[in-house]
Amino acid sequence: MTIAFYVPRDSGALALGAEKVAKSLQTEIDKRNLDARIVRNGSRGMYWLEPMVEVETPNGRIAYGPVKASDVASLLDSGMAEGAVHPLWLGLTDHQPYLAKQTRLTFARCGITDPVSLEDYRAHDGLKGLENALKLTPAEIVAQVTESGLRGRGGAGFPTGIKWKTVLETGGPQKYIVCNADEGDSGTFADRMIMEGDPFVLIEGMAIAGIAVGATKGYIYTRSEYPHAIAVMNEALDVARKGGVLGPSVLGSSYAFDIEVRVGAGAYVCGEETALLESLEGRRGIVRAKPPLPAHKGLFGKPTVINNVISLASVPVILDKGAPFYKDFGMGRSRGTIPLQIAGNVKYGGLFEAAFGLTLGEIVDDIGGGTASGRPVKAVQVGGPLGAYFPRELFDTPFDYEAFAAKDGLIGHAGLVVFDDSVDMLKQARFAMEFCAVESCGKCTPCRIGSTRGVEVVDRISANIEPEKQIEVLTDLCNTMKFGSLCALGGFTPYPVMSALTHFPEDFRPTPIAVAAE
Ligand SMILES: Cc1cc2nc3c(=O)[nH]c(=O)nc-3n(C[C@H](O)[C@H](O)[C@H](O)COP(=O)(O)O)c2cc1C
Ligand code: SF4
Repeated sequence: MTIAFYVPRDSGALALGAEKVAKSLQTEIDKRNLDARIVRNGSRGMYWLEPMVEVETPNGRIAYGPVKASDVASLLDSGMAEGAVHPLWLGLTDHQPYLAKQTRLTFARCGITDPVSLEDYRAHDGLKGLENALKLTPAEIVAQVTESGLRGRGGAGFPTGIKWKTVLETGGPQKYIVCNADEGDSGTFADRMIMEGDPFVLIEGMAIAGIAVGATKGYIYTRSEYPHAIAVMNEALDVARKGGVLGPSVLGSSYAFDIEVRVGAGAYVCGEETALLESLEGRRGIVRAKPPLPAHKGLFGKPTVINNVISLASVPVILDKGAPFYKDFGMGRSRGTIPLQIAGNVKYGGLFEAAFGLTLGEIVDDIGGGTASGRPVKAVQVGGPLGAYFPRELFDTPFDYEAFAAKDGLIGHAGLVVFDDSVDMLKQARFAMEFCAVESCGKCTPCRIGSTRGVEVVDRISANIEPEKQIEVLTDLCNTMKFGSLCALGGFTPYPVMSALTHFPEDFRPTPIAVAAE
């Protein structure tokens, strides 16, 4: 029987040498005349083990990692083809504690299937959601999504079903589905992992969205920094068209739907939905005032659903297993699962999909294993560059939209960036203001001017120039930005700044430089 080896084509694995490993493995297979094939899968999300090579055995897949190209010959000599032990042997992939503890609904296939094989996708429950959707009326599909409790995973947590209902009920001959794959948040990579590891689940989710609201065209807007995701996505779109999933008759139905990938230059603000639409229409990414909502007047002035990759990729499992199944996971108003992206100074960085409700402490200490540096954790920034810094005292906060909001924080796209005790929170506050100044689209004054003034105020605190007075000015400035900005870039920059000030006040009062006695 042909032996199946798996070497990821995920960007994270490639950055760590996966391409060289795949080439070296192919060379050895040829040299040894082995009856073997290499599947270029997505990542399982355990990045400290990448490049992780797996082999299919009668007992399941056995993993080895992290593998270097120079390890390949010795791995084969030791019997990797049969799953034999070796210093890099990890055992059954499914038994790795990091994976075994997860609830993989959205990422159920990521790292398991060949990302561009529709056959493999079908063999692993792919297209069941779309098939079920085709048996329902558009209103029934929308009702399923609403009942599941799915909320937008891009940041704002808006109920996906309500957004779809608005577009469904807005008349018009042309409507659009826009997938927000800009993924600008620091420490986030879930969208990229899906696009590289299971692109069909996104295609399926978008097709269901199209059928539900009456849209025949979809766009995936991503950034030029994601070349591998773009390549895999385009390859999968071709396969989906040839396989009848996309095109004039979706799976043989009377519905037409097709998707195009569009690439932006990578401005953070282009992830904001209205700036994204401007960019998609060929203009500079500047935020539009709302109303009109994109659901009423979006892309090219037509009713448009804009959803994050993970929101759309979570729809197939809802339509496959039913809204009650999905809704059963989670806590409070945060239903289903959330792909946590654990990054920064952390021992076990990677993607961990779990039902809402784990505490921040469980995520950082138990799952992430604490810092990579071995020093104590000082702060965790949750939700990207606009998210608050959480100190250890708040580690009992459960991962839930409302619980985070109650602590003046946000979940955002579920990225967590861990910092050890060597971090200077005053510098982090400065970074937040500087980031806002650099990325501001310039449309409104509180953000455009406020962020630059913010950098200056923080610099005066650093220089110990009337620090107490500057802290008052900074607090006042943050209030102006929070309540006066047009979008969340200016409106949420106060979160990292004020959380740094509130939880780490000592970093804002630098020790006065000793003046040498005469
Ligand atoms: C400055 C800024 C950047 C954003 N970047 C992203 C992004 O990269 N990806 C994303 O899905 N949403 C991003 N959002 C949120 C979007 O505006 C929008 O809420 C989201 O695409 C809606 O999809 P969802 O309901 O599925 O979350 C950003 C918002 C702001 C204010
Ligand atoms: S808050 Fe900043 S990014 Fe948002 S509209 Fe105003 S200037 Fe543009």
